[in-house]
Amino acid sequence: MRIDVVTIFPQYLDALRISLIGRATGAGLIDLHVHDLREWTNDRHRTVDDTPYGGGPGMVMSPEPWGAALDDVRARADAAPLLVIPTPSGTRFTQSTAAAWSGVPRLVFACGRYEGIDSRVAQHYSNAPDWQGVAEVSIGDYVLAGGEAAVLVIVEALGRLIPGVLGNQESAADDSFAPGAMADLVEGPVFTKPVNWRGLEVPEVLLSGHHGQIATWRAAEAERRTVQMRPDLLPDPPEA
Ligand code: ADE
Repeated sequence: MRIDVVTIFPQYLDALRISLIGRATGAGLIDLHVHDLREWTNDRHRTVDDTPYGGGPGMVMSPEPWGAALDDVRARADAAPLLVIPTPSGTRFTQSTAAAWSGVPRLVFACGRYEGIDSRVAQHYSNAPDWQGVAEVSIGDYVLAGGEAAVLVIVEALGRLIPGVLGNQESAADDSFAPGAMADLVEGPVFTKPVNWRGLEVPEVLLSGHHGQIATWRAAEAERRTVQMRPDLLPDPPEA
């Protein structure tokens, strides 16, 4: 999979060079390219923003550098990309979005700052013939200073679902929200050695070696923890 990220803070994405995603990049499973939006400005100050039409606080990112950058980045590989624009006003990015995007050959991320990117950029690329459309997504109901942290989250979530990225493919199947038995559940508690730590014991069943009973216990614990922590995920969530 090829991933391009356009940002005014390229260094922010350095975190993708370490750990799991860093290894996937090293192994050629992810072909990552980070670009500085200011390379596509023409003025002395390398300006990327302007005041909002209609007034109001803050600044809006101008469509010109974005159009120039995205056209140029598009031309650097054959596959038509999906343009992903992280924004608090987007649709929710979930585990199923991550699973769907883990199979996409090419993603281009546009990181907005300030009050966001001029809306015509999303409008233009959603109808552009050599693109796979535009996804404006939010990673949660809070406002970040920019899209960069959201890109780190999204790339890590989808990257670990690319075949070969996780050492043990089994481990993604038991994740919270994984399709199948875990679809609307969070994962239950986990334990390792020692059996007794500060007077707290590992549940007996996990030491039994009885795989059937362990699976039943884990399913019940996932259910219990979902009720406790995430009642909103239940088929009939209690009123908020
Ligand atoms: N940019 C700012 N806040 C964001 C959020 N919650 N999700 C995605 N992108 C964002």
